[in-house]
Amino acid sequence: MFPNVRMRRLRENAILRRMVEETELEIEDFIYPIFVDENIKNRMEIPSMPGISRLPIDYLADEGKELEDLGLKAVLLFGIPYCKDEGASSAYDDKGVIQKSIRKLKEETNLLIFADLCMCEYTSHGHCGIVSGNKILNDKTLEIYQKIALSYAKSGVDVVAPSGMMDGQVKAIREILDSNGYEYIPIMAYSAKYSSSLYSPFRDAAESAPKFGDRKTYQMNYSNSREAMREIELDIMEGADIIMVKPSLFYLDIIKMAREKFDLPIAAYNVSGEYSMVKSASMAGYIDEKAVVKELLTSIKRAGADIIISYHAKDYARWIK
Ligand code: PBG
Ligand code: ZN
Repeated sequence: MFPNVRMRRLRENAILRRMVEETELEIEDFIYPIFVDENIKNRMEIPSMPGISRLPIDYLADEGKELEDLGLKAVLLFGIPYCKDEGASSAYDDKGVIQKSIRKLKEETNLLIFADLCMCEYTSHGHCGIVSGNKILNDKTLEIYQKIALSYAKSGVDVVAPSGMMDGQVKAIREILDSNGYEYIPIMAYSAKYSSSLYSPFRDAAESAPKFGDRKTYQMNYSNSREAMREIELDIMEGADIIMVKPSLFYLDIIKMAREKFDLPIAAYNVSGEYSMVKSASMAGYIDEKAVVKELLTSIKRAGADIIISYHAKDYARWIK
């Protein structure tokens, strides 16, 4: 105890401070989300997410190479399709926006391609599953998820990432992949995905807001943490390879709990609303963007995440280059 112990001793020298640092971000930790829009000819800025754009498929090769030049290794694809219907048929079209994007990026880059697997960007009603009346039908939805997974696999995806929060989705996807010879495609499961108000900029970007009701019958109630552990445990039993907590910053306790309880790699999704809050405060000059972003990303890793999905990844990569 004081005066023998002085915590400040190790803080005196910058080299020493760095040497005893417990948490270090690496560029390899990041996945950068990309919105691919089949309906546009030019890059289109997303007003609620300054610095982030929707891209036409033709821009993907250049974007991918730029990311690689910055040292980034992985992307997560979201698609805005040409047409939407009740059953999300454009989501499993072999000529669909994601399928074409996967093939393009695989041809032109060495990036690792994660593809978000859900229906909400492809349905006319904007829900993540098959709708009947005002209900979202779980098991009927799984059949569609299987079709999407198979068409992603055929297009050459590296990792599939189901985000719809239907019960049994990991098992259903694992089964269809395995029975078609894709045993080695990993599943990154959005396991503890909360029904959060922080997704609204994303829904502008992806045009995926539900036309009626909300997602509370499938996404989790933010008041619950033990339930998140059950969700994760089930996904692990169903065959998930990577588990995810989403959003990240208001949910660091969940990441920490999952880290203590489970040994699988954990991904944390630093979502659109988290990004937009930091970006707008930075643009207004209220905070120092670079410092705040480094701090927040480090906090996600310190909480226990191995993988960070973040719209800040490109900026971060530029800053450390
Ligand atoms: C689709 C999906 C969403 C996000 C990722 N996949 C939106 C939602 O559930 O409404 C949100 C990502 C973000 O806000 O950055 N199910
Ligand atoms: Zn969805």
